[in-house]
Amino acid sequence: MEKRYCVRDSRIDEKTISLQETLFHNANGYIGVRGTLEEGCPEEFDTMRGMYINGIYDIAPMKQAEKLCNLIEEKETMLNVADTQTILSNFSGQRFSMFTGKVNAYERVLDMEAGTTTRNVKWEMPDKRIVDISITRMTSFAEKSLFTIDYQIHSEDFAGEVCIESLQKGLVKNYCNPHDPRLAGESHMHLKKKDGWMEGTKSYLVSETISSELTIVSGVAHEVYVNEKKMDEILPEYIEEAHEMRVKFCIPMCPGDTIRIVKYTVFQDSIRRTDCREAVRACMDEVCRGGIADYYEKQKQYLKTFWENSELEIRGDKELNLSVCFNMYQLLQSAGTDGCSSIAAKGMSGEGYEGHYFWDTEMFMIPYFVLTNPGIARALLEYRYKTLPQAEENAVLLGHKKGALYPWRTIAGKECSGYYPSGTAQYHINGDIAYAVVLYYKATGDWQFIKEKGLEMLLQTARLWMDVGNFYEGRFHIHCVTGPDEYTCMVNDNYYTNAAAKHNIEQFLKLAKRLEKEEDWNAFCSIHKLTETELKEMKQAAERMYLPYDEKLKINPQDDSFLRKPIWNLQKTPQEKFPLLLHYHPLHLYRYQVCKQADTVLAHFLFPEYQSKETIENSFLYYEKITTHDSSLSTCVFSIVASVLGMREKAVRYLGDSAKMDLLDTHKNTKDGIHAANMGGCYMAIIYGFAGVSITENELILNPYVPETWEGYTFRISYRQSLLRVNVEKEKCTIEVLKGAPVQLEIYGEKKKAVPGKPLRIEK
Ligand code: BGC
Repeated sequence: MEKRYCVRDSRIDEKTISLQETLFHNANGYIGVRGTLEEGCPEEFDTMRGMYINGIYDIAPMKQAEKLCNLIEEKETMLNVADTQTILSNFSGQRFSMFTGKVNAYERVLDMEAGTTTRNVKWEMPDKRIVDISITRMTSFAEKSLFTIDYQIHSEDFAGEVCIESLQKGLVKNYCNPHDPRLAGESHMHLKKKDGWMEGTKSYLVSETISSELTIVSGVAHEVYVNEKKMDEILPEYIEEAHEMRVKFCIPMCPGDTIRIVKYTVFQDSIRRTDCREAVRACMDEVCRGGIADYYEKQKQYLKTFWENSELEIRGDKELNLSVCFNMYQLLQSAGTDGCSSIAAKGMSGEGYEGHYFWDTEMFMIPYFVLTNPGIARALLEYRYKTLPQAEENAVLLGHKKGALYPWRTIAGKECSGYYPSGTAQYHINGDIAYAVVLYYKATGDWQFIKEKGLEMLLQTARLWMDVGNFYEGRFHIHCVTGPDEYTCMVNDNYYTNAAAKHNIEQFLKLAKRLEKEEDWNAFCSIHKLTETELKEMKQAAERMYLPYDEKLKINPQDDSFLRKPIWNLQKTPQEKFPLLLHYHPLHLYRYQVCKQADTVLAHFLFPEYQSKETIENSFLYYEKITTHDSSLSTCVFSIVASVLGMREKAVRYLGDSAKMDLLDTHKNTKDGIHAANMGGCYMAIIYGFAGVSITENELILNPYVPETWEGYTFRISYRQSLLRVNVEKEKCTIEVLKGAPVQLEIYGEKKKAVPGKPLRIEK
């Protein structure tokens, strides 16, 4: 039977190899391993051999051409940690490779229920004998420090000695491409081997990052099985070299035999542990005691719960359904869950954008976790709370007298944007983080989080708006910032930014009001030196926030000067000139009405209460004509707003572009890593778009419809500790409370109460 949660691929050539490395990467939010081939591939192939740890970074120089005041001269960059992927097998002198001898059959499988990737190869050696090689990899969700390779060789007609060498390499570099601004331009060495030791059959390697001085310890252990029998007596040869440790097993093999090597790697690092060496030893002992079968089982159980809580099934479009599941799985693989890390733009699947975290997490991915896995959403917000002090320092660096400015791109909390017009100037990140805090609170009711952390984040981000903006002729203006659209930089009164700032301040004041009724209010005010006068000024700024509106076109201009610029002729732009950012000087782009991505349209989705439906519709139609969607964060937003406006065909079309972006590599750069924000956006397009889910202060709202080309869809969401299952069909919709208390909701404009055990049926 065809498995619902499986992705398969059998292409093998130079062009697709790095794409497959991304699509078949393994990650668990802590470790990420590209799907590179254990045995490697020809040197001239463009591959990115990488293993990463979320939150681990080194500091790389970022020289500015001109030494202007307080420009950043260094950046945090994700690094490739010790490589434990390499396994080489040699059959009587014939080294296995997909590019020598003959590959008679080949398939790669991502099994999203088992939580593994498998590569199956029927390999014909140069001397014509045949072996079946099957390699399964897993990054464990149950034990996040663990990565396993289960390497099995079955001989069809080979008789002789097979020598299997397994490596742990300390000398690794990062990938670079000097021609693409979305990748690191130079490849630096970030890691040095400090130490290494053996303990029985286990080997350990201690590495330190060169500039950030973080320690990473990796441990490797092996188990050998011959025809399913564990062979502890087969002792390998150990070879320790300057930067690597090798383990070599030589085993005789006859036709029909199966040899299996299980390689366990565990990682510990100094961000999370005070004594990494001890931690790695303890973890390795625990893993070896449990054994691979145990971890496979735990992985399945973990994913069973995951798929139950985030069930989403689209009936009538199998391909779309698979893409959506793939996207959801990738989000799970990418998310840091320990409060020390977040989600990089490429998850943990590649080095695009150097492993940096952007607004992508708060605006596109937290809305997914909030509804399916609120614990992860909270951990992601905790990470932002942990880095609030750095955001406060960043504000000072930019000349602000108060508040916090979150970095546009970062790993450990420092601003890492090299090009400030489309980097640091994107102040809206403050409003995005504030939006995510509020969304999390509305969906979960977690007042404790708000009291302990969230309110402080809202205060410090709100304060920044008060410092960056000013009153002019009775309105509050925000000058010289960049909105989400990176083809329009350094503008005054960007609609999106002003709306996000207004919402940020309003929500701070609202939640502060709630705290005022509690004992903790006085302490909060005194710790943060918050006065009545400051609160009053904030209220005025929010009320008088200038939101640009054009009387003639009856739309919200993207910013103050936007409509004065000429319109870029997209029809006459040759296909090969896209994405525009790779073909035109930024200043040239900035002088036209042309958008890389949803900007005002995104504001309309997030803050619909600020405009009439008519204005939103006019804006949508206006920006649609001038948006290139060169950013992957765009079509999903257009899909959501098309749904809200009842433009159903468009909503489906935009969703299609978004859903299959990585599986079909439509942006032609999935090889550098997944487009994680788009994956969240795709989920949002279905749940916040088609199902019309929105969360107000006291209520869950649904407004679902079934697009023409689908039969129906079912999804589960968490809302205030209750788990709901919603089944949407053309004629009716059913809502069940599977767990938790009754839920007050509004559906198709009518107030209803969903009670456990009594499915609520609504006929259309
Ligand atoms: C987009 C940004 C995004 C970044 C990382 C850029 O191309 O314009 O909005 O945050 O990619 O995904």
